[in-house]
Amino acid sequence: MAKKGRVFSGARPTGRQHLGNYLGAIQNYVALQEQYDCVYCIVDVHALTTVETTEDLKSNALEMALDWLAAGIRPQESIVFVQSHVPEVMELHMYLSMVTPLGKLTDLPTFKEKIRQQPENVKYGLVGYPVLMTADIVLYKSDIVPVGIDQAPHLEFAREVVRSFNHRYNTKVLIEPQVKHTEILKVAGIDGREKMSKSLNNHIELASTPEETIQRVKDMVTDPARLRRTDPGNPDVCNVFTMHKIFSSAQEIGMINTECRKAGIGCVDCKMLFAANLNKHLEPFRAKRADIASQPSFVQDVLDDGARRARAIAQQTMTEVREAIALP
Ligand code: TRP
Repeated sequence: MAKKGRVFSGARPTGRQHLGNYLGAIQNYVALQEQYDCVYCIVDVHALTTVETTEDLKSNALEMALDWLAAGIRPQESIVFVQSHVPEVMELHMYLSMVTPLGKLTDLPTFKEKIRQQPENVKYGLVGYPVLMTADIVLYKSDIVPVGIDQAPHLEFAREVVRSFNHRYNTKVLIEPQVKHTEILKVAGIDGREKMSKSLNNHIELASTPEETIQRVKDMVTDPARLRRTDPGNPDVCNVFTMHKIFSSAQEIGMINTECRKAGIGCVDCKMLFAANLNKHLEPFRAKRADIASQPSFVQDVLDDGARRARAIAQQTMTEVREAIALP
């Protein structure tokens, strides 16, 4: 079947993926393969703007790719690769920087947030983060970019840079990407408040064992007003109930919704039911992950092959770009 166009998305190498990554991005990456040619990139160069040490970058990239493959990204169809393996992106980044007003970069909300978070580490590369992201997208002539709402300003920025470039060099080589907002299943961590993230250690790893998963679920914060087993609870403010709505059957959800409110079911039983359903849901993922992990160099081979295929597209684009600029 002919596909509708090319999807590109990038994610920083954060190692083993968690439930938040799965529900917010990976599931969507997998689904998009049905209708689009997909290019999924592990953006290690972007990671250099924030990481303190680089010693885990490689293992984090491999673990992340392994999780993507186990979750159903099909490397025969889709291109999965590491950003720095296709160095053409750095060259394009430089050319795009020539049509990017500095003020546009320093005005971006994401940049302002980063200066707040790491005021002692504001480097040239950090300011240029969105230019590199634009280079990622346009190098592969991507039509669609699935991102969360936090990345929307970057996408709008990318579209402006494309227009500026095409206008400045009187060309049509670069394609303006369309944003596709991913279903935002913003999942809270086990603390029940903050967004699930590895850095806050409030996450549930997809690759953890069933026992570890149960332990993590046991640690989940429920309705804070429910202090004793005999107190009625409020599922509307309970993160465990939110998870049930994703992983449990309609009948179970209905039962909890009723029973929790009249203290018919306790938090422990409610959590155990969720943990069981989650473990069941992740069983095929975990089996596939173990299978892939048992084949030495499988993931590395996928990434090498991905880089080769990505590079073929990139080199073609760069030939056109250099011509458009009229470089000698
Ligand atoms: N900036 C994205 C993030 O922080 C990662 C990213 C880099 C990206 N290049 C991209 C996302 C290209 C989509 C398309 O999550």
